[in-house]
Amino acid sequence: MAGSRNPDRVLLAGASGATGQELLSVLRPTDLDVRATTRSYANVDTLERHGADEVMVADFFESADAVAAVEDCDIVCCALGTPPSYRHVTGGKLVDRTGVINLVTAAVAEGVSHFVLESAIGVGNSKAGMPLPARLVVRGSLSAKHDAEVSLRRSGVQYTIIRPGKLTNDPPSDDILVGEGGDSVSGSIPRADVARIMAAAPFTPDARNRTFEVVSRDGLSGTPTNLVDVDWADDRLTAAYERHQH
Ligand SMILES: NC(=O)c1ccc[n+]([C@@H]2O[C@H](COP(=O)([O-])OP(=O)(O)OC[C@H]3O[C@@H](n4cnc5c(N)ncnc54)[C@H](OP(=O)(O)O)[C@@H]3O)[C@@H](O)[C@H]2O)c1
Repeated sequence: MAGSRNPDRVLLAGASGATGQELLSVLRPTDLDVRATTRSYANVDTLERHGADEVMVADFFESADAVAAVEDCDIVCCALGTPPSYRHVTGGKLVDRTGVINLVTAAVAEGVSHFVLESAIGVGNSKAGMPLPARLVVRGSLSAKHDAEVSLRRSGVQYTIIRPGKLTNDPPSDDILVGEGGDSVSGSIPRADVARIMAAAPFTPDARNRTFEVVSRDGLSGTPTNLVDVDWADDRLTAAYERHQH
């Protein structure tokens, strides 16, 4: 059972992906122990070089892989997503549903203390935040993500669901607008900003069991509503970083 170790062990599911790599950069200098996952042996060396303490090759369509990945972890940070595929439109078997639900089930059994899920603006009650043409193109994955969100909310595991707008590879803006309730913000956000709040969420009392829509101020489109103030526990990450430096 997880929970009594120090430092905390984080499962970074989808570490080889674009948000996953940003998360690895944020987590690397901290005292958190990071278990990174990819489906490809070819990514193992790179992930180790980028600071993963441990790399596991796992396919989350397999529930046994999810169980093995979550073993002894206190926190799950999930940045999984479907590579370009017609399934974004048609739906069906998508890691955004099946893989995430396998991870949630494994997290319940392991007694994980916090699960952070990267979802998307456009899912569920945040539908209006994604323009209709875009929504049609990814309707299969939006529906899969909706099922995954519902499963996490019902799991009993403490969670934070982060729904970013369109993701960019720009440097972090450090100026994030956070909305709640679905009909809130729309626009884009650098993955680096998303990674920062995903890493801080487990240490942020304000973020417990909440679902947020996030964009950067620069990336905002339209008029924001339902903005909320979240006191992200950046100090938890910074303090660890400073300890690491000295
Ligand atoms: N693109 C956007 O504008 C946008 C906007 C909002 C939200 N999002 C969502 O944000 C999330 C992150 O997106 P991203 O573009 O940063 O990520 P990405 O580069 O697409 O990375 C996806 C990750 O998922 C892993 N993965 C895929 N299938 C898997 C499976 N069956 N088992 C295990 N791992 C699997 C990949 O690992 P390997 O390939 O190494 O195995 C990779 O690490 C996604 O859920 C995406 O839908 C995207």
